Amino acid sequence: MKVDKKALVAGASGVVGRCLAEYLHSLDDWTVIGLSRQPPIGGNDVPRVDVDLSDRRDVQAKLGTQSDVTHIFYEARFDHVEGTPEPIDTNVAMFRNLIDTVVPIATNLVHVHTGSGHKNYGLHKGPARTPAREDAPRYPGPSFYYEQEDYIHALRMGQAWSWSSARPTGLCDTAPGITRSMISLICAYAAIRKELGLPFSFPGTEGNYHALYQCTEALQLAKATVWMATAPACANQDFNITNGDLFRWSNLWPKFADYFGMALGPVETVDLADYMADKEAVWQRVIEKHALIPQPLERVAMWSYWRHLWTPDWDIVSSMTKARQFGFHDIVDSEAMFFRMFDHFRAAKVFP
Ligand SMILES: NC(=O)c1ccc[n+]([C@@H]2O[C@H](COP(=O)([O-])OP(=O)(O)OC[C@H]3O[C@@H](n4cnc5c(N)ncnc54)[C@H](OP(=O)(O)O)[C@@H]3O)[C@@H](O)[C@H]2O)c1
Repeated sequence: MKVDKKALVAGASGVVGRCLAEYLHSLDDWTVIGLSRQPPIGGNDVPRVDVDLSDRRDVQAKLGTQSDVTHIFYEARFDHVEGTPEPIDTNVAMFRNLIDTVVPIATNLVHVHTGSGHKNYGLHKGPARTPAREDAPRYPGPSFYYEQEDYIHALRMGQAWSWSSARPTGLCDTAPGITRSMISLICAYAAIRKELGLPFSFPGTEGNYHALYQCTEALQLAKATVWMATAPACANQDFNITNGDLFRWSNLWPKFADYFGMALGPVETVDLADYMADKEAVWQRVIEKHALIPQPLERVAMWSYWRHLWTPDWDIVSSMTKARQFGFHDIVDSEAMFFRMFDHFRAAKVFP
């Protein structure tokens, strides 16, 4: 076994960081330490340090001797209630606490990677120029991404180590316990509607139903992130990373209806957070009927994520041209990915 790279992965219990840490851990030439306050739900075998990145003294005490780190992957983000702004000061402080502690002592540092996303273009706020390209001017913000990027750009001047950043769109994965997830929302919504004898109607807006959308499977992002951190041509570059294809919910929804054995309904715009508020008893009936893992509805889907996912009336499209030109050619068929993930959760007895 050859081990020559040592990675710190901040946010190793989150959607992005968990998959990245597990992927790195599966490779022969990496040692990995995952950083988060809590272990990932369901556990994994990635070595981890339990650290509160918002507490500088905690970071210094627990990571102040990590002088043999060669790669830092920053995929943490502080807690926020879905639909409210993410706290910029805390997110920037967490980032700085880690960087200020490890970068000065890591004498063999090779690379720092900062996770980002399509929010970098303001695509969550309103229509932006699409396909979004990495050289697009910054939107008026505010954004913790911009502050983290500015900080690392200033720090890397004259240094031997390089930087990169990935800009994914909505993440999809099958790790346990992800509630801010389009997969969970679709499966749980279908189960409840079916139990109520109602058709599989699209709960978002008419505009969103017909707009172009894309998503990013977590493993696709993990592979792209490792590529970026190791390919010399990617030094000091940022890349959109998506599955590499586009879809419209209006094309997928009828196929989803077939999969769940339901009639397709019309677009029926409804705030799912309100709609689901009194559906706990229905969900418990679903669990009993299908012998699912017993858990409350709020533990399987974050319904407020509905607004972010299914109300934008505009195309959300990032260009993958730059990543392809630089050498990343992996493509995930999003339609097949949905059914693969639905199958996974069905087999795992999370959803019927
Ligand atoms: N999810 C998406 O659909 C999506 C899409 C595009 C871009 N992105 C971007 O990808 C990056 C990662 O997002 P994500 O969705 O993976 O986030 P996430 O699932 O919310 O996970 C956040 C991670 O940060 C850790 N964390 C939060 N506060 C911490 C603290 N004080 N100390 C230590 N660790 C802390 C959490 O661990 P503990 O709670 O255990 O501490 C968790 O591991 C972000 O920049 C996000 O904007 C995400």
